[in-house]
Amino acid sequence: MSLIETAPRFAVSRRIYNDENIHHAELERIFRRSWLFVAHESEIAEPGDYVTRRLGIDRVIVTRDEEGGIRVLLNSCRHRGTRLCRADRGNTSHFRCSYHGWTYANSGELRGVTFQPEVYGRDFDKSRFSLFSPPHVDIFQGLVFACWDPEAPSLLEYLGPMAWYLTTVLGKFDDGVELIGVPARTLIHANWKSESENLSGDGYHTPVTHATAFELGLFATKSDLELLGEVSGPRFTGRTADCGNGHTMRIQRLPLNTPRPAFHGYPEELWEQIERNLTPAQVEVQSCLSVGHGTVFPNFSFLENFKTSVDGPGRHARYIRITLRYPLSATLTEVVWFGLRPRGASEEWQRLSRLGYLRTNGPAGMFEVDDLENFVSISQAHEGNVSRDFDFTLEGGLHGQAAPAALGWPGDVVDGDRTERTIRAFLLRWHDLMEGNPSQSQSVTVSHGR
Ligand code: FES
Ligand SMILES: [Fe+2]
Repeated sequence: MSLIETAPRFAVSRRIYNDENIHHAELERIFRRSWLFVAHESEIAEPGDYVTRRLGIDRVIVTRDEEGGIRVLLNSCRHRGTRLCRADRGNTSHFRCSYHGWTYANSGELRGVTFQPEVYGRDFDKSRFSLFSPPHVDIFQGLVFACWDPEAPSLLEYLGPMAWYLTTVLGKFDDGVELIGVPARTLIHANWKSESENLSGDGYHTPVTHATAFELGLFATKSDLELLGEVSGPRFTGRTADCGNGHTMRIQRLPLNTPRPAFHGYPEELWEQIERNLTPAQVEVQSCLSVGHGTVFPNFSFLENFKTSVDGPGRHARYIRITLRYPLSATLTEVVWFGLRPRGASEEWQRLSRLGYLRTNGPAGMFEVDDLENFVSISQAHEGNVSRDFDFTLEGGLHGQAAPAALGWPGDVVDGDRTERTIRAFLLRWHDLMEGNPSQSQSVTVSHGR
């Protein structure tokens, strides 16, 4: 079979989670061509600030140069290729190579060559040896993305309707959002796609994978919700949005009946900002939000979650979480976790937000431990040479026509979030690129906010 078949039924080859040849093709056909997230702007707020990251698996330095511009530089000396910077983060105007001492400004230009007159001559042209850098770097809502493909569309075109949802998550506060602490990193023995798929909108796994979290009260209980307003309707209701190009979103709403928009979990002094900075349709996404999460193809996901009674009844908080996955091999992924919160909230609320994050969706949070165990076991189950010859199914939601939601939300939006449509959208984009079809499935650029 081909790696993905859509007829007569939707079937996916199990090889895509553990085959090293497929992994190498992904690096060339997907990670070399896609816009990839590298850092949050707040991590490099001052000239000289830098963090070291990967673009796909290539190591890069993300730095703010002396003029305030953001640079993404291949973390490898132009002389003999030594890794230039070994720290996770810091502040410096120059990077000096540990092997022979070539020195680069944080703009990437080669400034110093050790013993230059003697070894290379006085006329040696240093301008030929700036650090390599990707041709495209851009920022959207504080998210720094870069792309190695000179032919790539602009970041806004690439994001398409997803820009509107990212603005809802990250663009609703006057002073933006900031990191909670510093990013954490974990190595997991799983394929990078498993988490991308899950966060693309897998509402189906929650009641089973996270059953213990329900028992422990880590999801909103009826008594938590009754403190917020009139509880109505089904316990939870959700929607999914297919934003094209493999980007998808899932939005789950608290079952509350509120006459006015309500942004539970955020301090009430910030509510006016949220309503002012978002469009009415974006307010509809945000009001009474339980959890919203999505994946920007291929390896960036975000999640905005509501935590009730963090350290006592009625003491609710919310946080935003980003995860980024480096595809180190077919069965080894490095995950980087970024916790975010609005600037300007009280210290006490920030403490609640941090506790809620650490307990649930932080790197050692209960939801993450539950989820990662499944992702690891998917790769483990196909270690054998026979099991990987079979396929698996993603037919959830194909049996009936999902009701399109007429809400003015961009993308292809349907009611109901226990479906596999977002995972199919992610994998179909993956398949298009693996088959050598880089054209964008969705080239519509929409206005992304006020
Ligand atoms: S390898 Fe960097 S200076 Fe020689
Ligand atoms: Fe989960």
